[in-house]
Amino acid sequence: VTSANEIRNVKLCLLGFGHVTQRFCEIVADRSQELAERHRLRLLVTAVGTGRHGSLTHSVGIPPGSVLERFHEGVPGFDGRQIAATTLISESGADVLVESTPLEHGGTAAISHLECAFDSGLDVITVNKGPIAWAYERMRTYARERSRRLRFEGITMDGCPVYNLAEFCLPGDRITSFRGVLNSTTNYALDAMATGASLDQAIGEAQAQGIAESDPSHDVEGHDAAAKVAALANVLLGADITPDSVGRDSIRGLTPDDVSSVISEGRRLRVVCSAAITHDNRVAAQVSLEPLTRDDPLYSISGTSSALILQAELAGTIEIVERDGLLTQTAYAVYSDLLTLFVQR
Ligand SMILES: NC(=O)c1ccc[n+]([C@@H]2O[C@H](COP(=O)([O-])OP(=O)(O)OC[C@H]3O[C@@H](n4cnc5c(N)ncnc54)[C@H](OP(=O)(O)O)[C@@H]3O)[C@@H](O)[C@H]2O)c1
Repeated sequence: VTSANEIRNVKLCLLGFGHVTQRFCEIVADRSQELAERHRLRLLVTAVGTGRHGSLTHSVGIPPGSVLERFHEGVPGFDGRQIAATTLISESGADVLVESTPLEHGGTAAISHLECAFDSGLDVITVNKGPIAWAYERMRTYARERSRRLRFEGITMDGCPVYNLAEFCLPGDRITSFRGVLNSTTNYALDAMATGASLDQAIGEAQAQGIAESDPSHDVEGHDAAAKVAALANVLLGADITPDSVGRDSIRGLTPDDVSSVISEGRRLRVVCSAAITHDNRVAAQVSLEPLTRDDPLYSISGTSSALILQAELAGTIEIVERDGLLTQTAYAVYSDLLTLFVQR
């Protein structure tokens, strides 16, 4: 029995230690006093796994700030050993898996990480869209059957509450459709092309700004957006689809002239993500390149901003806008998911 005042240790297994997880560790380090005093929580890391930078294990657990120091200083512990992900998870003794490995087609590896975590008694926070886009219903059932919990606020619109809003703020209502602009790389590329840049130049600029990944094809071909649409449709609309069943436009082949001619008509091209429950109770989902008029709420969304318009049966139209989302906002999603899991309301 723990008294209400006792500080609870929550142990983390971090699978993936890249941009998002490192920023998350900085946030936890900055807020450790508040976590202890206000929330009665102490976060400790018992295991970290990477792709090429080795692994770290610690049976008692060390503060996230110390993990960062060890990672940057190469202190023994991050010693180049590559422990298999499932071994790392199952032997971590952790309460929560934070899954932040890269998105891959089919989500296979991340799905196996989540299953291993649930089998080993861990709850899961994922910022990797794969498990939710490819296998949400299966993951949900898998977790429920093992009395485990799954949270994923960071997979869409960074730390902006989308899934939490739907879960906690719309009791008794039903979302029937959504429409949004959710991909920074294509926003940036389309704006740069409006000033005469080619697609390749525009993508190069987006990479230089840290917006586009080194392999931007996921964004250009609409795969990233399709994964977001599938995840949103699965969670918000109760669909059971994968990104492969999302219709998809690519911006490959678009020229600066194409973009300019749309602008000369007073409109603006955007990659729009949408899905709706159809009259025969199926879900139609797509990623489409659309010329938006000025009166469209999505018209003004550019750069790393994003927006999602939900249509709910009773609450009506809800517009969620994130202005200039960056890494801190995604890392905050992990932090907020942790508090959702462990702070009594
Ligand atoms: N960055 C964002 O703003 C953002 C926003 C929303 C969602 N996300 C999603 O969040 C996830 C993480 O993003 P990020 O920007 O932090 O990526 P990142 O910087 O590329 O980091 C990925 C991490 O995963 C590790 N990794 C790769 N393969 C692995 C494997 N098989 N087992 C264990 N670790 C593995 C990498 O290790 P090595 O470096 O050693 O290879 C690295 O530590 C991705 O799924 C991304 O789509 C990112």
